[in-house]
Amino acid sequence: MKEISKKYSNDEIEITWKPSVCIHSTKCWRGEEGLSSVFNPAERPWIKPEGASTERIMAQIDKCPSGALSYVKKNKEAESPQIQSATIIETFENGPLLVYGNIRIKDKAGNETQKNKVTALCRCGASLNKPYCDGTHTKNGFQAS
Ligand code: SF4
Ligand code: FES
Repeated sequence: MKEISKKYSNDEIEITWKPSVCIHSTKCWRGEEGLSSVFNPAERPWIKPEGASTERIMAQIDKCPSGALSYVKKNKEAESPQIQSATIIETFENGPLLVYGNIRIKDKAGNETQKNKVTALCRCGASLNKPYCDGTHTKNGFQAS
């Protein structure tokens, strides 16, 4: 499946959202920890970079558990955010396996994709974008601690 990327910009950063990787954790917008002035799924566009300071937006994106949200600073486009520590694997309740760290994923044809930061891998078996989680677990009632 071709990966769709949507881009949103202010003067300082370009935000990328990959819908097929979003696990619908709601962390970016819901509750006190969310940033609903920028991330609001009830509105279009659902991401409004003018809704908060660049620092605040970057801090929120860093909390996205799937890596669906990412950013590049416009004056440092060549830089790719990388985690330097050991790889950590965490289970997301009723959802995917989250792999933190720099990994390479090889598909059946032998093509490799470099993943930095966080990668969500399907644990429910129903994703249409395997091995990645595409959020389907929220629709099929998948339950696992
Ligand atoms: S996975 Fe990321 S982009 Fe998707 S809802 Fe959660 S925080 Fe937002
Ligand atoms: S765990 Fe999310 S689609 Fe399977």
